[in-house]
This record gives sequence, structure tokens and C-alpha cells, in this order.
Amino acid sequence: MKLLLDTANQEKIKEYLTYLPVSGVTTNPSILKKEGQLDFFEHMKGIRRLIGFERSLHVQVVAQDYEGMLADAHRLIEGIDDQIFIKVPVTKAGLQVIQTLKKAKLGVTATAIYTEMQALLALESGADFLAPYVNRISVLNGDATSLIAHVQQEIERTQSSTQILAASFKQVGQVLDAVHAGAGFVTLGTDVLDQLLAHPSIDKAVADFERDWDEAFGRKQV
Ligand code: G3P
Repeated sequence: MKLLLDTANQEKIKEYLTYLPVSGVTTNPSILKKEGQLDFFEHMKGIRRLIGFERSLHVQVVAQDYEGMLADAHRLIEGIDDQIFIKVPVTKAGLQVIQTLKKAKLGVTATAIYTEMQALLALESGADFLAPYVNRISVLNGDATSLIAHVQQEIERTQSSTQILAASFKQVGQVLDAVHAGAGFVTLGTDVLDQLLAHPSIDKAVADFERDWDEAFGRKQV
């Protein structure tokens, strides 16, 4: 499981980098809104400085029409760097943008995926990553697990290098289901990231070991 951080909060990104095996950072306009007023391009360049070029940075277009999305994509590349993955929602115009960006050999993450057909079309259009919205699909009574499993089968059948980057999680269990279904990458918000190692039994086991060592050797370190 490759793990990405679905946040634009630099302090949280710094914290997670100290202990999590982080493969990248994903953002979208709603995530950026949570950070309040900021200089967008400076902020994104700051995130790039934190994560380096060995991790991926995914940044979303805002316009909804073909020309607007393409113009956004080029502004993002000029304002941040040319190694970013441009997140494009899978709409009619979005699919066209994905194909154009891939012809130009730019990195693309197909996002806002609610249906298997969106994922299959984005796959065939050459997107590097497909981002199905797991929790949002479940809320709509959809089956995100079967979507991921079917799309992963198609990726393998066509020997494509495209990866599933599952997104929109509310619980750790949903993350495990997505990984079991075949998602190689997941991007998690801070609410789920903070739950990854939260388990009362883990803390108790570690405290018990320290107490037993202390009782046996009279100190709390080796
Ligand atoms: O990466 C997509 C994600 O940010 C959407 O998540 O929590 O708004 O459903 P959410």
C-alpha cells in the first residue's frame, strides 16, 4: 500500500513525514479552502520543498470546460513545477483534457471518479492514476470495492501502468477494503491518518513491556 496525504496543511505534512512512509500529497480546491487565505503557488511550492521530488504532488484544475482546464493545467505547471500530477475530474471535457495532457507526456491523475465507466474511460485515455471516491460512493449506496476490483482486473488484463489511487475515506476499515480490492495507492485525510495507529491494545502492550522491564531491571531503557 503506497500512502499519500490528502491535505495541504504543511504542519501536518511535516508531522506525518517524521513517521509515515509517505509517497506523496494530493490536494483539491476544497482541501486548500480549509487552509484559509494563502498564496496558492507559494504554498504548493512549500509543500514540494517538504516532500521533495521523490514523492508525488497532485494538484487539481478548477475550470470545467476543455480550454479552461487546459489553461489551468499549464498555469499549475508554470507556477509549481513540471513534475506535478495534474488532477482532472472525469467529465466529457475532462476526458478530452486527460488525452491532451498525456499526448504532451504530462502526469495526470483522473479524479472525482464515482462510476466504473469513468474509471475505464480514464484508464483508456492514459491517466497515470485513477482516483475513485470510496466514501462518497458508499454514501450513494454504490460498491467502491467492486469498482476497484473490476478496474484493477482491467488494468492487469491490458498490462497498463496506470495505478488506482483510492481517495475519500472516513474510516480505516474502508482503506483496508480498498487495498484488499486491489488499490495500490490510497490518499488519506488527516482524520483518517490520525487513526492509523490508534488502537488501545497497542498502547497497552507497549506500556506493559516497559513496566515489566522496569520491574525486572529497575530502569525504563535497555
Ligand atoms: O481526494 C479526494 C478527496 O479529497 C475527497 O474526499 O472526504 O471530500 O469525500 P472527501
